[in-house]
Amino acid sequence: MNRRQSFADLYAFDIDRAADAAVFRQIYGQLRSAILSGALRAATKLPSSRALAEQIGVSRSAVVSAFEQLLAEGYTVSRKGAGTFVASDLPAPFEPVQRRRKQQASSARATAPIRDLGEWIDVTAVSNERPFNLGRTLVDARTAELWRKLNARMLRSFERCHLGYGDPHGMIALRRSIRDYLAAARGVRCEAEQIVITAGTQQAVDIVARLLQGENRKMWVEDPGYPMTRLALATAGATICPIPVDRHGIDVAEGIRRADDARAVFITPSHQFPMGVPLSMARRLELLTWARDSGAWIVEDDYASEFRYGGRPLASLQGLDDAERVIYIGTLNKALFPGLRLGYAVVPRPLLRTFVNMRSLIDRQPSTLHQAVVAAFMEEGHFAAHIRRMREMYRGQRDTLVAALRRRLGSELSVEPPDQGMHLAAYLRRGLSDAAIARAAREHGIVVHALSRLYVEATPQSGLLLGFSGYPQQTIAPAVARLARAFGK
Ligand SMILES: Cc1ncc(COP(=O)(O)O)c(C=O)c1O
Repeated sequence: MNRRQSFADLYAFDIDRAADAAVFRQIYGQLRSAILSGALRAATKLPSSRALAEQIGVSRSAVVSAFEQLLAEGYTVSRKGAGTFVASDLPAPFEPVQRRRKQQASSARATAPIRDLGEWIDVTAVSNERPFNLGRTLVDARTAELWRKLNARMLRSFERCHLGYGDPHGMIALRRSIRDYLAAARGVRCEAEQIVITAGTQQAVDIVARLLQGENRKMWVEDPGYPMTRLALATAGATICPIPVDRHGIDVAEGIRRADDARAVFITPSHQFPMGVPLSMARRLELLTWARDSGAWIVEDDYASEFRYGGRPLASLQGLDDAERVIYIGTLNKALFPGLRLGYAVVPRPLLRTFVNMRSLIDRQPSTLHQAVVAAFMEEGHFAAHIRRMREMYRGQRDTLVAALRRRLGSELSVEPPDQGMHLAAYLRRGLSDAAIARAAREHGIVVHALSRLYVEATPQSGLLLGFSGYPQQTIAPAVARLARAFGK
């Protein structure tokens, strides 16, 4: 065995703490597969439970339980004083050892960045209830009632046209409503034909990433930035160029200095994720000029722009673009609710056909019935009214959160109410580790994301990200009291 490679590395252990399967079950399952495939040969000695626990970074008791299970099922034998060994009387392996080992090692490498995503795709039902998880929304009784009624109406008029394949661009009625909304609210200039209905921002990013094939796959991302975008790009084979963000947004001059030949830039100009700053007008113009001259694409993620509480709203970058370089992406999963899985992209004409073809290759089209419900919700004016009501509700939740943080944790955290969006950043005053606080908070049932984890190369700031949109006002102060316990208060 290579001396520097641990047993856990050699057998490509991959433990997902966010997965439903208990950690001991995962260890047991991976050891058992290695034994059955022959990767772990008969009579091989297993490391001690203490050593393996250290290598994988889990508790020793989890490894002990896994070892006990393997022993009970006859996969291993224990020799007093000598340790635990793979049993010698097992059937022959199903696959050649070398091939299996290679596959395990390469799949472990390919998924290495995605393994870090655990906390971002913590999708158990309980994760939706836990304050202050990001991106959750509330729906009031009025919207819930309308939603039920519209669904019932659509089902009553359920016809042949709902049964077959539909337009992969999405339903034209919905695209027209989105065009009208975007023109009025965000200054987006487009025809309904340029709008493609997606499953949300994540799918739009994925489609763009897959379209930009070829030799040059350099893409700027914001540093710090939204990890779900960066990792979607990285796994699609892009070369990630992290570009620092300051109080004016992404540093365009620095981007040009580092990679002026990039194919695309992925940005959140109206409310930079996670810092919350808008991209200044000077930088917007600088970015558009660079994209026009170099032929790069600007992917504008305009998430949560519906929820603006004050300050001067900046219209979309897309509306300033005369050279058709901006792909504007928006989501209904925040304006309404994440379980909806509907969003849209406004695609420049030269890219439209390939974009739609790629969308069809991935999952053909969005669900016709859901689109019909949202189209009616928008056409009948309920969408605009819903946004107005939710904006006031979230504003109240934001203010309650800021007040509670200042009252309970003012000596630890510095916090300002954001002008837009569904989360805020609270900066740690005394060199505490934000990751350690986030871990401790989870033990008290509170989800906060560590700001420092969202940096790639830039010098990290220490802070906590707290989503306020998904939690009724009266639940906020008690949740902050639980968060305070993570600070030992
Ligand atoms: C920066 C950013 N963009 C987009 C989204 C929305 O993604 P989706 O529409 O895929 O749910 C989020 C959600 O948290 C986000 O934080």
